[in-house]
Amino acid sequence: MGVKVGVIGAGTMGAAIAALFANADYDVVLVDVSEEALKKAKERHEGEILRELKEVGLKKRDEITSKIKYTLDLEDVKDCSFVVEAVVEKLPAKIELLEKLEQLLGEDCIIATNTSSFTPSELAVKLKRPEKFTLFHFSNPPIVREIVEVGGETVGEDFLQKVVDVVKSIGKEPVVLRKDSRGHIFNRFLCSAVAAVGWDFGKFSPPQVDAAMKNLGSPAGFFELLDYIGMDVLLMVQDSLIEVHGGRFELPNGFRWLLERMVEWGKLGKKSGEGFYRWVDGKPEVPEAEPADILPVAAAAVNEALREIEEGIADKETINRAYCLAVGSPVGILDVAEMLGYATILDVLEKKYAETNAETFKPCETLKDMV
Ligand code: NAI
Repeated sequence: MGVKVGVIGAGTMGAAIAALFANADYDVVLVDVSEEALKKAKERHEGEILRELKEVGLKKRDEITSKIKYTLDLEDVKDCSFVVEAVVEKLPAKIELLEKLEQLLGEDCIIATNTSSFTPSELAVKLKRPEKFTLFHFSNPPIVREIVEVGGETVGEDFLQKVVDVVKSIGKEPVVLRKDSRGHIFNRFLCSAVAAVGWDFGKFSPPQVDAAMKNLGSPAGFFELLDYIGMDVLLMVQDSLIEVHGGRFELPNGFRWLLERMVEWGKLGKKSGEGFYRWVDGKPEVPEAEPADILPVAAAAVNEALREIEEGIADKETINRAYCLAVGSPVGILDVAEMLGYATILDVLEKKYAETNAETFKPCETLKDMV
């Protein structure tokens, strides 16, 4: 293909993104500030990620490491024509890196961000060419899930078309957003569900919640997904949403305490070998369990999805598509809502709101109007 791609950050996401590009025959420069992270990424490229590529039918090469330059030197990306950053979810760190990248790269290079929460406009504040800056957000596990949310308010139409083509060239499906909102489409209702599940934590165990999720058609359980994401990243994303969208993303105290302790104890999830589950050979050990009643969690997620429609972030079809691709579910979140009935969703939310006074359960106006 002859096109050189830079990936900054070789952690959970960056290593997988680099692999997807290398597998699609791009030459890749993978940069991290940590030698250990680069070493771990290379190991994943030689084993687990190759296996995952094969499992999902994306594997095009017998090996990918010869297509990747692993480096600590950011300057090595300077002749790339597409660079995606996947570094820590902290606004100042990302703004500083993006400014540096723009100075280093040629004028025609497109710069992309895998941020889970920040908007392209917030990240582009120091960029001179914001029209060449785009959202490029994967879901976890990134090799398996098909979605890449792209766009945002900064990127120019011509460049957005190129970004869409890049997504397709690595075997993924683009979902285009034109309005900025922290959490984009999927993470807003995911984090709303995280806040909601915290209220029943203790009443139900993670395997019970996950069994119920699977009954709703999802191939992965809810706590399994949190383990994929990593508790450190999850807390950063949740806090970023609280900062801008307010209390409806607030976690109940007990659940926040637990997540913070898990970070302190190094139980980060898949990447550290243990989170809510133990992970062996890249797979979680999930015990059999009776499904829990997760209706309040589903209702909170639906409530947030309807808010997105209210705010003009995305329409119903786009929200359903984003959910299907991000979770690997055959049905969209608003299809689930229709099966349950919006009157039931409203009733569940009103009862849970009265019980907890937690804003995540406060029904939005659209839902009330619909019922
Ligand atoms: P991670 O903690 O696994 O990896 C981050 C990597 O970035 C680390 O190896 C770190 O050494 C490196 N790094 C930090 N600052 C750097 C810099 N200035 N230059 C080069 N490397 C640097 O984090 P993860 O999970 O890969 O997340 C990265 C980004 O992707 C975040 O913005 C996150 O919100 C986003 N994301 C995460 C998802 C997840 O499920 N974990 C899903 C989708 C997006």
